[in-house]
Amino acid sequence: MISLKHVVKRYGRIQYGLNEVSFQIYPGEFVFLTGPSGAGKTTLLRLLFREEIATSGEVKVAGHKLNEMPPGEVPVLRRKLGVVFQDFKLIQDLTVFENVAFVLKILGISHIEQRQRSWRTLKMVGLHHKLSSFPRQLSGGEQQRVAIARALVNDPLVLLADEPTGNLDPELSQEIMSLFERINRQGTTVFIATHDRSLMDQMRKRVIGLENGQLAFDEPAPSIAPKMV
Ligand SMILES: Nc1ncnc2c1ncn2[C@@H]1O[C@H](COP(=O)(O)OP(=O)(O)O)[C@@H](O)[C@H]1O
Ligand SMILES: [Mg+2]
Repeated sequence: MISLKHVVKRYGRIQYGLNEVSFQIYPGEFVFLTGPSGAGKTTLLRLLFREEIATSGEVKVAGHKLNEMPPGEVPVLRRKLGVVFQDFKLIQDLTVFENVAFVLKILGISHIEQRQRSWRTLKMVGLHHKLSSFPRQLSGGEQQRVAIARALVNDPLVLLADEPTGNLDPELSQEIMSLFERINRQGTTVFIATHDRSLMDQMRKRVIGLENGQLAFDEPAPSIAPKMV
């Protein structure tokens, strides 16, 4: 579903965002991407939804070769993806409901279906009581959940999220993770950048680690029961 081969992303002449990164994620996997600040996590995710283009190497997502992709094909790719941005990117003069429904409106989905699906998704993230609020009236955690609802409303093939629990307390972080697990069980491939070690330990999923723009490790999901401590 996601494949990187010898991917290099250089900023300017010398600075590396990513250096010779290769790995594959199969359909239906749930994978974390981790590493210290500046390791290249955001850069990597941005390559996957074609916000950036690799300097060299091959990036494939959902059957699209991103290096050679003509600009006209970018919307086709993005329709298959749900992206949760680190800074939410909510539209400030639209309500919570409108921010989520907007995605479906662009796709030309009927008004009634926009309403049903937006409502259902906002209920899933526990925000159905804030439909008419504007982003500025919400806490950071609530804005994050709107961003997550927006990413999920179109049943994406792949969900990409950049530090999606960065602004949430541990309890809410766990709820969001359960939500991602549920989405994953329904077939969506999930790829989440985080540096929250305790969260990853609890989730027991495959973890890909970056350091200084390079692949540092790729640990499969642990298969044995957790040790009691
Ligand atoms: N637009 C940019 N221009 C120049 N350097 C950048 C840009 N974006 C990221 N970088 C650099 O690339 C490296 C990786 O950054 P980033 O992908 O944001 O890491 P992370 O998300 O793991 O904290 C850092 O050294 C960062 O300074
Ligand atoms: Mg980042």
